[in-house]
Amino acid sequence: MPVTILVGAQWGDEGKGRVVDWLARESNIVARYAGGDNAGHSVTIEDTLYKLHLIPSGILNDGVVCILGHGMVINPKKLLDELKYLADRGLHLTPDRLLISERAQIITPVHIALDTASEEALAGDSIGTTRRGIGPAYTDKVRRSGIQAHAMRDVEGFADQIHRQVEAANQVLVSIYHRTPLDATAIAAEYVEYARQIQPYITNTVAYLHHALANNQRILCEGAQGTLLDVDLGHYPFVTSSSPSVAGALSGLGFGPTVVDRVVGAAKAFSTRVGSGPMPTELHDEIGNRLRGTGDKPWDEYGTTTGRPRRCGWLDMVALRYAAQVNGFTELVLTKLDVLSGFESLKIATAYQLGDRQIDDLPASLLDMELVEPIYETLPGWSEDIMQVRRWEDLPLNARRYVERISQLLGIPVSMISVGPERDQMVVL
Ligand code: IMP
Repeated sequence: MPVTILVGAQWGDEGKGRVVDWLARESNIVARYAGGDNAGHSVTIEDTLYKLHLIPSGILNDGVVCILGHGMVINPKKLLDELKYLADRGLHLTPDRLLISERAQIITPVHIALDTASEEALAGDSIGTTRRGIGPAYTDKVRRSGIQAHAMRDVEGFADQIHRQVEAANQVLVSIYHRTPLDATAIAAEYVEYARQIQPYITNTVAYLHHALANNQRILCEGAQGTLLDVDLGHYPFVTSSSPSVAGALSGLGFGPTVVDRVVGAAKAFSTRVGSGPMPTELHDEIGNRLRGTGDKPWDEYGTTTGRPRRCGWLDMVALRYAAQVNGFTELVLTKLDVLSGFESLKIATAYQLGDRQIDDLPASLLDMELVEPIYETLPGWSEDIMQVRRWEDLPLNARRYVERISQLLGIPVSMISVGPERDQMVVL
């Protein structure tokens, strides 16, 4: 069975980009299955940092074909910007390397305006979205008023659809949010231009993927965001509007589970979250600041898409165990272990205390999540810099113990550990 699915096991930002880049070496195709340009995937190759939002990180491997699946919401303007960004770095993507599902949903300025207006109206109760129009685009999809990518093949019909979408949204923007209306004619004209440029990449990706499977090609499904941000599995409403978990890969690309042989969870060696919502192990102290970094290094904990500082804390095994269960992880990749070097001791939350009860399973209720206190297990730290380590046996004993304890608590093997931002700073077990 030739399909691997890579899923974020926490709140996104687990370093999936560089894991995809690594796993893409063994893949013919890398297909992104959910989300939009709310994602930010970073890969460092020989001192060059690539920041990608829509195009799968697998594109940095020669010969790998990349797909934007129909589970995605795609802003054509951002996609064209990203194609230019890569072209400026010598990577000119033609339709034999990049395919867009004809069923993918299109993000327009309407969605961005509605996302912003809704967040501002919520004020102190806002979700903290990336304001990339993600929620409104998925709302249009499920209420059956969205625009699919294949509409771009008929530019006049596409212009008409955009025009109608803007006019309908203007009613909401003006009457509910008291905003100035958007210019439907100008937006339609702008999007027709994008459609002309993007048309050649649009195809039947389901047929393409199944043809590839029939020819024994290996497919890597690239997740964005993380399981705890899943619209069904996360802490609603502090979630994104897609399914970043394993089920999203099947529906977002068009496979049955029988073709999948590996479900790889990516987890950071500690916890981070950006935006609002529960995070029981969050630290508001010096340790939290140290985990975040000062922001002078590109891999410090500041959002790739929005630049917002991430909330940081100790590893939450209650949340991670939940992610392993709901996704059926066959293995875990642990990223950023190097950031934990130099701590005298490390903590991992193995359960929560809720009043007089100990809780092992993640509660759904926001109130419970507010009230829970993490129950920590303390492990000894290590002082050595591990960024040059490439073999498991060369890691300090306490670093190995930390990894082994995580693996033991999850009941699945840890297959890779990243020890730095560079492509080869990886320990493969
Ligand atoms: P949206 O996806 O922009 O609607 O944002 C919903 C929530 O998901 C917010 O808390 C965002 O900060 C969070 N979010 C969305 N994309 C990412 C990501 O790629 N990494 C981390 N958090 C994300």
